[in-house]
Amino acid sequence: MADPNLSVETDIDTCVVPYGAAAIAEAARVIAGGGCVAVPTETVYGLAADATNARAVAGIYAAKGRPSFNPLIVHVPDLAAAEALAVFDADARALAAAFWPGPLTLVLPVRADSGLASLVTAGLDTVAIRVPAHRAMRALLAACGVPLAAPSANASNAISPTRAAHVLATLNGRIPLVIDDGATEAGVESTIVATTGDVRILREGPITHEQLGLFPHEGGETATVPGKVTAPGQLASHYAPNKRLRLNATEAEQGEWLIGFGEIEGDATLSVIGDLTEAAANLFDALHRADTSDRETISVAPIPATGIGAAINDRLARAAYR
Ligand code: TXA
Ligand code: MG
Repeated sequence: MADPNLSVETDIDTCVVPYGAAAIAEAARVIAGGGCVAVPTETVYGLAADATNARAVAGIYAAKGRPSFNPLIVHVPDLAAAEALAVFDADARALAAAFWPGPLTLVLPVRADSGLASLVTAGLDTVAIRVPAHRAMRALLAACGVPLAAPSANASNAISPTRAAHVLATLNGRIPLVIDDGATEAGVESTIVATTGDVRILREGPITHEQLGLFPHEGGETATVPGKVTAPGQLASHYAPNKRLRLNATEAEQGEWLIGFGEIEGDATLSVIGDLTEAAANLFDALHRADTSDRETISVAPIPATGIGAAINDRLARAAYR
């Protein structure tokens, strides 16, 4: 039976408000009332709610139509706020010092007195935390004064949003407010790193293996273990367009909308000069455009797996999986 607490009104007016003091004040009001709002971060737009309020967190799942309770990332303004929620070891502190604020999420042992709703961690004894750099998310954190749980602001399994219009594509009528601050900078979700035991990457993202590998570990070796993805909620099919997606295409076949890269020119080209950072920023927008085009299927040119290319290929493999 459907849980009535998780029902979501699907005919509410969704306001898109440009970033500014009025938008932040209204968003903070919605969040204080236990609601959720879409807000940009430097990676993708997030759907934010009070991480200490179980009903508010349940509202995120309801709006997204998530079938199961995957653990969510908790956003805080600074390291001190993060240390109130989780236990940091030396590796975690070094990573936080190097990459926060920024697109890095750390999975750490949750403190017993964190005050987080248990729905946020899905009952795990760890919590995923990040300190975002984006002005809108930072202003919202300051205005709310509570940690904010925020998954990407799209319906479950749909393409992640890097623009306000992408949020509306699947959440229009399901959430009250989208703060619009243009296209996000990084374009793919944060890198998730666990530091319990070996430092290892749970999800590829804007902070690359190469960047993490610069870290001298205890004893002087490098800390990075480019490990298997074992994070819960990392489904094989994710970030998925409705249409079939063909990888490593060198040209468009009949009826395909080609996403190009470098010398392979497509209907959209992620980066004409073959720049992977530019390609990551354009990836989800290209998938959104391809999915809403009049062509039947989508194809995408080969993307080198170096640097942030690892994150791009991770997202493409999940988008193509069926
Ligand atoms: O860039 C981002 O990280 C965006 C923006 C909005 O901050 N957020 C985001 O959240 O991508 P979400 O909910 O789509 O991804 C959360 C993922 C989960 O699927 C899971 O893989 C991992 O974070 N995660 C969360 N808590 C975890 C935990 N305790 N242990 C391991 N993985 C965890
Ligand atoms: Mg997501």
